[in-house]
Amino acid sequence: MRKVGVIGAGLMGTGIAQTVAQAGMDVVLADIDVAIADKARARIAGMLEKLVEKGKLGADDADAAVGRIATAGDYSGMADAQLIIEAATEREDIKRQIFASVGEVLGADAILASNTSSIPITRMAAASPDPARFIGIHFFNPVPVMKLVEVIPGLATSPGTVERVRAFAEKIGKTVVHAGDEPAFVVNRILCPMLNEAIFVLGQGTGSVLDIDQGCKLGLNHPMGPLELSDFVGLDTLLEIMKVLHETTGEDKYRPAPLLRKYVEAGWTGRKSGRGFYDYSGEKPVPTR
Ligand code: CAA
Ligand code: NAD
Repeated sequence: MRKVGVIGAGLMGTGIAQTVAQAGMDVVLADIDVAIADKARARIAGMLEKLVEKGKLGADDADAAVGRIATAGDYSGMADAQLIIEAATEREDIKRQIFASVGEVLGADAILASNTSSIPITRMAAASPDPARFIGIHFFNPVPVMKLVEVIPGLATSPGTVERVRAFAEKIGKTVVHAGDEPAFVVNRILCPMLNEAIFVLGQGTGSVLDIDQGCKLGLNHPMGPLELSDFVGLDTLLEIMKVLHETTGEDKYRPAPLLRKYVEAGWTGRKSGRGFYDYSGEKPVPTR
C-alpha cells in the first residue's frame, strides 16, 4: 500500500493517520469539515514533537510524517488510495452513508475497511461498493501505542482482501489476530461488558469511582481502571457498542447500564468532552462520584 484514506478524524482516525504516516505511507485524513481534520493533523504534529523532545524520533522523520498527511472535507483525494479505512462515529446509519459516498471514488482494486468496534461486518458489507473488498480492521486506542489489530472478514470478503489487510497491518508494526464476524468481535466482546458492569457497580452505589478504579488497577494490575478506560474510549462509543451487542444478540446480559445512558444524554462523553466519570477541566482528573 502506498496511499491510505482515513475517514473520521476523531480519536481513532487521528491515531491511525499518525501510525500509517510514520510507517511511510501517504494519508488523506477526512472528516465532515476539513477544519476537524486540520486540527487532528495539528494534534499529530504535537504528539510527534513530544517524541522528538524525548529523543525517540528524529526531527526530520517527524516533519516527513506530518508532510505525508493531507486533510480533506470530502473523499475526492482518496480515488488513488489502495485502502480506505472508515473510522467515523460508531453509528451504522452514519457508516452506511459514508460507504455510499466512498463508492463514487473507490479504486477498482482498492479495499474499504471499517474500524467499527462492534457492528457486524457482513451486515455493513452489503451496503458497501463491493462486499468482496470490504473488511473489518479493528485498531485499539491509543493506536500508535497499542500493538493489536483485529482483522474481521465478512461472509463475502475475499481471501485476497484478508491477506492484503493482514500485510498492511504488519507493515505498520501491528500484530494481527483474526476474529469471527460476531458483534464486538473478540476483544470488545470481553472488555465492553466489563466496562458496562463497572458502571452498574457505580450506579448501584457498591463503590465510588475511585474504589472501582483503584480496586481494578491494584487488584487486577490493569493499567487503567474500568471507569477511567470508559472515559478514555468515549462513553458515547461504549454505549453504541453495548446497544449493538444487546440488540444483535437479544441477550439481556448486554443491556447498557442506565447510568451510562444518562451520562451520554448529559453530553458527558468522557475525556473527549472534558467530563465523564472524571472531570478533566483541571490539571489532574477529579472523580465525579
Ligand atoms: N504516539 C506515540 N507514542 C505515544 C502516543 C502517541 N500518540 N501516546 C502515548 N505514547 C507513548 C508515550 O510516549 C509513552 O512512551 P514511553 O513509555 O516510551 O515514554 C507511552 O506511550 C506511554 O504513555 P504515557 O507515559 O503518556 O502514559 P501511560 O504510561 O500512563 O500509558 C496508556 C498510557 C498506554 C494509554 C496506558 O494507560 C494503557 O495501556 N491504558 C489502557 C489502554 C487500553 O486498554 N486501550 C484499549 C481500549 S479499548 C479499544 O481501543 C477498543 C474499542 O473498540 C473500544
Ligand atoms: P470520535 O467521536 O472521537 O470521532 C468520530 C469522528 O467521526 C468525528 O471527528 C466526527 O466528526 C467524524 N464523523 C462523523 N460523521 C462523519 C462523516 N459522515 N464523515 C466523516 N467523518 C464523520 O470517535 P472514535 O473514538 O475515533 O471512534 C471512531 C470509530 O472507531 C468508531 O467506529 C469506534 O467504535 C471505533 N473505535 C473506537 C475506539 C475507542 O477507543 N474510542 C477503539 C477502536 C475502535
